[in-house]
Amino acid sequence: MLENRVAIVTGAARGIGNGIARQLSKEGYAIAVFDILDEQKVNENLDAIRENGQPVMYFRGDITNSDDRKAFVGKVMNDFGRIDVLVNNAGVAPKVRMDILETTEESIDFVLGINLKGTFFFTQLVANVMIKEIEDIPGIRPKIVNISSMSAYTSSTSRGEYCISKAGISMITTLFADRLAEYGINVYEVRPGIIYTDMTSVVKDKYDKLIGEGLTPIKRWGYPEDIANAVSVFCSDKLNFSTGEVINVDGGFHIRRL
Ligand SMILES: NC(=O)c1ccc[n+]([C@@H]2O[C@H](COP(=O)([O-])OP(=O)(O)OC[C@H]3O[C@@H](n4cnc5c(N)ncnc54)[C@H](O)[C@@H]3O)[C@@H](O)[C@H]2O)c1
Repeated sequence: MLENRVAIVTGAARGIGNGIARQLSKEGYAIAVFDILDEQKVNENLDAIRENGQPVMYFRGDITNSDDRKAFVGKVMNDFGRIDVLVNNAGVAPKVRMDILETTEESIDFVLGINLKGTFFFTQLVANVMIKEIEDIPGIRPKIVNISSMSAYTSSTSRGEYCISKAGISMITTLFADRLAEYGINVYEVRPGIIYTDMTSVVKDKYDKLIGEGLTPIKRWGYPEDIANAVSVFCSDKLNFSTGEVINVDGGFHIRRL
């Protein structure tokens, strides 16, 4: 078994997940990445994690596929021997934004299948491994951090399926926090606001304008490092009497203003 603590980060081939993996490897974690992208195409991003000198495993898989999920978790336990942190970050936006009066079953299945069902069963699988390892590894305090979104509570009628999926992630946080508390496994959630990544690059002009006009009290884009720092706080053991807790990393977007 590795001496390092081990963090699984889903969707860490790029964007927010990559930022989280970089931060946790800087803090000494071995990193296991689960992502659907071709490893060759994201090698630069993976090198940025490897740069910190800790072990990095890349597994290409689809979070909606149960065989992929099982093969990955089996490989992590085989190669690394423990899971200290699971960061549920992999997620998608709808392929096309469509009004809720027009959107299709296909789009609902795509977004909910990855963001909600995939994340639920990934969490279930890893949680069961965590419950077992607690008996075998003295002092281990596994944690789960879900990356939801301000869309968990904000209506965007042109991408309702995304909002529904993120509201669902928040309930996954609550449910697993409740269920796993007896094992000392805490479950947390980071709620990003508008973060500059490939996902949002297609709507850059729209958000540049909204941020400039004061949509968020802190007038700037968020970056993957902002989310990574919040994940790092949850993993730090400084919040061990808190579970089911949420940090908004959104430049103050969630504040009601008059
Ligand atoms: N960018 C933002 O403004 C923002 C805001 C709020 C929440 N989020 C959430 O943060 C997370 C990361 O977003 P991002 O902006 O970095 O997006 P991104 O598209 O850059 O990264 C998402 C990653 O998830 C992976 N992924 C997608 N489908 C997958 C699947 N079926 N199986 C395995 N991996 C899969 C992708 O390959 C990619 O590497 C998402 O859950 C997103 O909903 C993003």
